[in-house]
Amino acid sequence: MRITTYRELQSRDQLLPLFQHVFWWPFNPKEFEKTIKADPRLKNSPVGYAALEKKRLVGFVGVMDIATLTLPGLAEDVGGIWGVVTDPAHARKGIFKALMQRSHAYFEEKGYRFSLLNTGKSLIAYAFYQKLGYRDVTVYPSAYKIIKKPKKSLTKKDRKTKLDWSRVLKIFTEATQDRAGFVIRDASYRKMLETRKRIQSDKCIVTDKGYALLKEDKGNVTVQEIIASTKEEMSKLITQIEDEATKIVIAEAVLDRDLQSAYLSQGFMILEDSYDVLMYKPLTNEGFTEVYGNKFYAAATDYF
Ligand SMILES: CC(C)(COP(=O)(O)OP(=O)(O)OC[C@H]1O[C@@H](n2cnc3c(N)ncnc32)[C@H](O)[C@@H]1OP(=O)(O)O)[C@@H](O)C(=O)NCCC(=O)NCCS
Repeated sequence: MRITTYRELQSRDQLLPLFQHVFWWPFNPKEFEKTIKADPRLKNSPVGYAALEKKRLVGFVGVMDIATLTLPGLAEDVGGIWGVVTDPAHARKGIFKALMQRSHAYFEEKGYRFSLLNTGKSLIAYAFYQKLGYRDVTVYPSAYKIIKKPKKSLTKKDRKTKLDWSRVLKIFTEATQDRAGFVIRDASYRKMLETRKRIQSDKCIVTDKGYALLKEDKGNVTVQEIIASTKEEMSKLITQIEDEATKIVIAEAVLDRDLQSAYLSQGFMILEDSYDVLMYKPLTNEGFTEVYGNKFYAAATDYF
């Protein structure tokens, strides 16, 4: 088996069957090039490691460099693992293990203290990650509501707004000033969200005291993040989202307790636990909670 970086990889097209098969991701290297350029987490990374067996791509592990803020308020990059897959015809030959080792070596070369990843507790990979020393950071609670509007109000308002990103950043920075985790954002963060189609700028709502980052698909609205300074403002934003949605509202990664109770009091169904889980592995002797506390900030917009 030969291991090469994504950047050196000649046969990138061979990732399509693997990514489509396991992540339902119709991977197109040309399109992905735009994501690499737009995503600060990929921009300077090898993007990942590929395992080749007689020129055939048989496994992949993606790597990124993710900006975090530690408890003392210092910026610190960590490693991020994504896109982990082994060709099923080559499973159980140690490909995943070798690629993970190579990825951790990259993070160590960069001096990172932690490697992070998102996975599902229902996947066999979860146990392998634990074997490699990964531990849970957080699960992702979520909220759901089916919109049942009286017939006469079914005419959908088509609100087109310009997203005031500097206002969003200001509100976010104020709300997360005591928080550690994925709280470092700038203009490039918005570009990443738009390129990855995580948000639709013209659907997002920004008020004086808060905002909601949203995307819509066939009348179903997904809330990627709500940030507001008061619980009242959270409820107002939720009401506005409900007013504009025609079918279903899905809120992902509702980690904030106040926000959870705001959803609950507006009749949303809550899943407090999830199979999706953010995990970390220490690459040095440092403890994760000593560095980040026990309320690591992560939103659905940070998902990788
Ligand atoms: C998870 C996955 C990448 C593992 O790849 P792999 O190349 O087969 O894994 P390896 O051969 O390197 O095995 C790693 C460890 O898992 C064990 N293992 C592998 N397949 C296993 C299975 N089906 N059941 C139980 N253990 C298994 C191996 O024994 C090894 O542990 P050990 O060396 O300590 O004994 C592969 O199953 C896969 O692509 N799954 C679908 C995609 C996926 O879930 N990706 C992760 C998303 S976060």
